[in-house]
Amino acid sequence: MKPCDGLEVIDKEDMTNGDARVVLCDAAQVAPDMPLRCERDGMAYAVFVLGDRYYVISDTCTHGPGSLSEGYVEGCEVECPFHQGRFDIRTGAVRSAPCSIPVRTWTAYLVNGHIEIDPDEVRPNA
Ligand code: FES
Repeated sequence: MKPCDGLEVIDKEDMTNGDARVVLCDAAQVAPDMPLRCERDGMAYAVFVLGDRYYVISDTCTHGPGSLSEGYVEGCEVECPFHQGRFDIRTGAVRSAPCSIPVRTWTAYLVNGHIEIDPDEVRPNA
């Protein structure tokens, strides 16, 4: 298992384009083994914390209707509760079949105790 070494948390002072961001939740609502499902504007997100870093991925599995926030977290991976496919929480990359399409990710910003994302951000998935 790879170490969790993402680099996606920044301080408010580093913010750019903050107007495009929306608040998903309070950081305190997210626990290491208990990701949080957040809905905004018809989209469902799953918020994770690995060590002291936060990550946001689409809550819906790319293989079917599985909710990844209800999945099993092991290291930097989440296992879908439907068919046990796995994704890398940091990148969205597929780590186990039957999944074959990466799950979408967003940069998570920790601002004043809240987790924010830019919903329109486009990030390449590994
Ligand atoms: Fe997620 Fe099938 S719905 S692995």
